[in-house]
Amino acid sequence: MRILVTGGAGYLGSEVARQAVKAGHDVTATQLHTPAPFGRPFTVDLRRPFELPDADVVIHTAYVQADADMIVRSTRAVAAAARRLVHVSTDLVFDGEHAPYDEDAMPRPVSEYGRAKLEAESFVRDGLVVRTSLLYGQPGPQEALAARDDVVFHEDEIRCPTHVADLAAALLELAASDMTGILHVAGPDAVSRLELARRLGARDPRGAPTPPGRARNVALDSARAARLLATRLRGIREYQG
Ligand SMILES: NC(=O)c1ccc[n+]([C@@H]2O[C@H](COP(=O)([O-])OP(=O)(O)OC[C@H]3O[C@@H](n4cnc5c(N)ncnc54)[C@H](OP(=O)(O)O)[C@@H]3O)[C@@H](O)[C@H]2O)c1
Repeated sequence: MRILVTGGAGYLGSEVARQAVKAGHDVTATQLHTPAPFGRPFTVDLRRPFELPDADVVIHTAYVQADADMIVRSTRAVAAAARRLVHVSTDLVFDGEHAPYDEDAMPRPVSEYGRAKLEAESFVRDGLVVRTSLLYGQPGPQEALAARDDVVFHEDEIRCPTHVADLAAALLELAASDMTGILHVAGPDAVSRLELARRLGARDPRGAPTPPGRARNVALDSARAARLLATRLRGIREYQG
């Protein structure tokens, strides 16, 4: 399969590209500032007009959390250019008041990031939107947070941590399928950010309530994915570090 991964240097995108190359696919990985470590690199700024190399499927991971315009604009353009699109979205499209959320639940984001990701989802016509939660499993942002002693972890902010390698494998399985619509693909354990920090090695993490205005419990119900996928999504409570 000819696979194009956007954000090929990112935490998730580089793992998708690594697994895809290993599986023998023809892989192009987009890069911007950071070199993409796996696949054929293709430098592109997805905020500007671009042409992508032809591919059977595009797995769109590129984003900047604090740049709503980038999220919306890049996804609109990638969706228009792709033959088939697998778009990575987030649990933060939900408001945190009605968990667990399955694919039929009504999104109601409370953050600018969540609103941008929800708008981005609307551009995915015949492709697949894969909503996931906090990623961990290789040294990355969550591991770095857990190692710090100057942060507080929300004790009632509930997420479904997802091993980055499991999600990458699931994305490749879905890329090869003809599935369309929305699929929640996250780990089965719904835990607080405080518990997540502990499980990622934080020694004596400080907890605090989730501040007002931030989604509290955005646990995803990933039962459909568990039924459909051969890839098993591990829960954080079985993670040994
Ligand atoms: N990480 C999580 O816990 C988490 C949770 C839920 C959902 N997600 C979703 O998962 C996806 C991947 O997240 P991630 O943590 O892997 O992200 P990441 O590590 O921050 O990687 C994002 C990638 O996007 C690239 N990028 C940024 N702006 C770009 C632009 N204008 N044009 C082209 N490329 C651009 C970056 O390139 P440079 O580094 O070169 O700038 C980087 O390689 C996102 O869609 C996110 O919404 C992530």
